[in-house]
Amino acid sequence: MNYFGLLLLFHVASSVKHSLRYFLTATYGVEDFPEFVGAATVDEFQVGYCDSNIKTAKPKQDWMRKLIERNPEHLEWYSQKCLGSQHVFRANIDDLKQRLNLTEGPYILQRMNGCEWDDETGEITGFNQYGYNGEDFLALDLKTLTWTAPKPQAVLTKLIWDAKKARLEHNKNYYIYKCPDWLKNYIRHGKSFLQRTESPSISLLQKTPSSVVSCHATGFFPDRAEMFWRKDGEQIHEDVEKGEILLNNDGTFQMSVELNVSSVPPESWKRYDCVFQLSGVGDDIKITLDKSAIRTNWVYSPEFPAAPVAGIVGGFLLILLLVIAVVVLRTKKSTDEEKQYSGFQLVMERIKR
Ligand SMILES: *[C@@H]1O[C@H](CO)[C@@H](O)[C@H](O)[C@H]1NC(C)=O
Ligand SMILES: *[C@@H]1O[C@H](CO)[C@@H](O)[C@H](O)[C@H]1NC(C)=O
Repeated sequence: MNYFGLLLLFHVASSVKHSLRYFLTATYGVEDFPEFVGAATVDEFQVGYCDSNIKTAKPKQDWMRKLIERNPEHLEWYSQKCLGSQHVFRANIDDLKQRLNLTEGPYILQRMNGCEWDDETGEITGFNQYGYNGEDFLALDLKTLTWTAPKPQAVLTKLIWDAKKARLEHNKNYYIYKCPDWLKNYIRHGKSFLQRTESPSISLLQKTPSSVVSCHATGFFPDRAEMFWRKDGEQIHEDVEKGEILLNNDGTFQMSVELNVSSVPPESWKRYDCVFQLSGVGDDIKITLDKSAIRTNWVYSPEFPAAPVAGIVGGFLLILLLVIAVVVLRTKKSTDEEKQYSGFQLVMERIKR
């Protein structure tokens, strides 16, 4: 099972907002899942991991490894936090079991916390949210320094946690000072990785002559990209189906946009082109709709009309498989609350499977 993939779900495009997020999940009575899993992301890329089996924190990404090599105490801090949180979460689950009168598992407590920093406005926001068994449980309101309970079952816990003033003050300090300091430091070190751009290769794909033509771009970075079809240089929306941006295994992205060509007469094909734009990169990439440029595995065969024959494992299918093998489907841009909700639910879904 891939526990890390789901973290990438939270990848939301934004040119100036940076984020440092921690995802902690404690489970009780869930088979094949470590009792405790922690992960950290910077600008939605996973940079660290720990779990109750390995009992130590591990950096991810080369730049984070280098940073940690120079500051071993930083990794030590994370390792201790990871082990400490495991015990705290376990105690919390025990409390909740009693408080909610739960007699049957699974018991899954999750936390997503961290901070965001807008490098243009300098604005800093902290967040700390808990989910229980896949649903929102409590969220910290840093302005009032109280917990918000979206469900009646959480109210009792809210009142108990609201009374823990020292912990709340500690929370506040952490989210307003320490977390943004670390985030800024990470961004400085990860700059060449996080702020690089890579252009994709683009191709036109079509399963059969009567299928839609898919304009497919893969290998681009970051995921702030647009792709669309044009007719006579004007963007069109009719007969166009745009796919989501997906993550490749190598950390780059791919996307495709389909054009239904069934009503386009052959002589008009060259009036259409597909355009890819990568944010921050001036040059658009264009490809003109052209029969000879299309990659397909469809082989015309008079004896077996309409049957896709040999070579089926070639280009198109391979690319389809790549699309399917993509680590995780990413959610659309959403508010923090929605993100957190979908995140908690997704972990649940993975656990349930
Ligand atoms: C807790 O659950 C048990 C068994 O379902 C039930 O008998 C008991 O009344 C419940 N207690 C409370 C306080 O809800
Ligand atoms: C393409 O358009 C035609 C005619 O508008 C329609 O009948 C057909 O179902 C469409 N194909 C797809 C795959 O949407």
